[in-house]
Order: sequence, then C-alpha cells, then structure tokens
Amino acid sequence: LALPKKSIPPKYFYEEPGCGLFEAICELPEYSLTRTEPGILRERAAESARFVGPECQLIEFGSGSQTKTRILIEAMQPPLYAPVDIAEDTLRASSAEMAKAFPWLNIVGLCADYTRPLAMPEFAGVPIRRKAVFFPGSTIGNFTPGEALVFLEHARKVAGAGGALLIGVDLKKDKAVLDAAYDDARGVTARFNLNLLHRINRELGADFQVNRFRHKGFYDPDRSRIEMHLESLYSQFVHIAGRRIDFAYRETIHTEISCKYSIAEFQELGERAGFRPEKVWTDPAQLFSVHGMVAS
Ligand code: TRP
Repeated sequence: LALPKKSIPPKYFYEEPGCGLFEAICELPEYSLTRTEPGILRERAAESARFVGPECQLIEFGSGSQTKTRILIEAMQPPLYAPVDIAEDTLRASSAEMAKAFPWLNIVGLCADYTRPLAMPEFAGVPIRRKAVFFPGSTIGNFTPGEALVFLEHARKVAGAGGALLIGVDLKKDKAVLDAAYDDARGVTARFNLNLLHRINRELGADFQVNRFRHKGFYDPDRSRIEMHLESLYSQFVHIAGRRIDFAYRETIHTEISCKYSIAEFQELGERAGFRPEKVWTDPAQLFSVHGMVAS
C-alpha cells in the first residue's frame, strides 16, 4: 500500500470469513463458472480418466472445497490425492470430507503457497505411474499472462516429464455477462473484496473505515481481463502498523485480475511453457474450457 500504485495480493482473500464468502460467490446466479466447469468435467469424466491413465497421483493446486475434484476421483480412481492450499482450516476440513467419501483413497494435504517451490512428498508402497496436476476454477486467470507462463513452467516441473495437466480456463465472452459475474446484485463479491480491509484492521491493527471504500469489478475488453479494485470514496488516510497511508479521492487499491482467453491463446501459452496441448473440452455455449496437456 506504500507503493505509488496500491495493490494487495489476492492470496490474502482466503481466510475466514473470506473463504466462506468465496463459496457464496460460487453459488451466485451471475457467476456461472462454478456450474459450467463441473458440467464439463462430469460429461468428460471417462475421457479425462483415459487421458490421465491408471495409477496417477492427482495433485490439486488451490484445492479449496475439493468438490469438483470428486468427479475426477470417481472416474480416475487414483491411488493418491495431494491437495495443496494456503488455507489450512479449509484444507483439513475438505480433506476429511474427501476421506469419508472415498475411504480407499490415500490423501496427503500440503498447506502451502502453490506458486512457490513445493516439496511434494514421495510415497513408498503406493504405485504411481504418472503425476497429474489439476488446476480448476480458472485460477490461472488470476495471474497476468506473464505470471501464468512462469506458473505453468512451475506446474510442468511438478508434473515431471510426461506428466499431465488438467486446467480450467474461462473463455472470452460478452462484457455485460462478465461485469455482472464480478459485481453481483446481492453484493457478495463486494463483501468479499472489502473484507480485505477488515482483515488488515483485525490483523495489523489498522483503522480503515471500510464504508469509506467501495468495490469495483469490471471487464476491460482491451486487456481481456476482469479488474477488481477497492476505491476510496474520499480523500483520506489510514494508519497501518504505525504507518500513515494516504488515499486520494477515487484512488484505488488493485486486488484481483481474472484474465480471459480464447482456446487458441491458451494452447499457445501452454506450448510456450513446455506442454503439448492434447484435449480441449467446452460447454455447448463455449463459456468455459478444460484443457488436457502433457509435459514434454
Ligand atoms: N479464479 C476465479 C475467477 O477468476 C475465481 C475468483 C478468484 C474470483 N478471485 C475472485 C471470483 C474474486 C470472484 C471474485 O473467476
């Protein structure tokens, strides 16, 4: 916040009540992604299991509630599931639920920032033929294309040579549809975004008056991306950890982006990161895509 262009890394969204608010976003009528992606996965479950092959280790980045993963686990029957998430409570609770639903499944959760180098544990006695990285929810869109490239190279290393990547990517679509998806009528996304300021107050003893800021979420067609900001409604200042931060009237804190791709654009990005695009599945309305790629 001390930089000329103020921003907060989006990973700070994901604590309580942030994780709960995110789950509420996923239920919104305006936010179709959470219905479209599982629909594609269900439709293509058998095909994706064939693509990945038997005895795979399924690694999920940002596993969250792990609900869509169940579709894959049912179809793939992997001997080992390794969810990686930064939110420890969510990781523990979701993994416990998963263990109940699939008693035969070995689960090893890793509480970590998945963009950092990961020490994935090795397993004696669990036969693994291939690693498959699952990265759903168009979380890849929350990186800039440059960051996405670096992330995909990292994912390729985690998967190893010949490893698979199953990745959900939101497609470019009508601006009105996208605007509504990130600025819903009930204000859930606004609460999710503004919660960052509450969190700073709570954890850093800051004195943000949260009602003096507002949520902004909109699609920028020129950059093919959603931008989310917190806009200062006044010229004001706050104190954070003994430091004064000034806000001009209408100045914003940038909190999130969500880049949208065409199928060809995303395949090209994958290729640049050392993947071979093999499969693409979409819904009939072409709102969302799931790509199957192989690490070379
Ligand atoms: N990755 C998803 C997307 O970009 C989910 C998401 C991340 C999101 N941050 C968000 C959705 C903030 C709404 C608001 O759509």
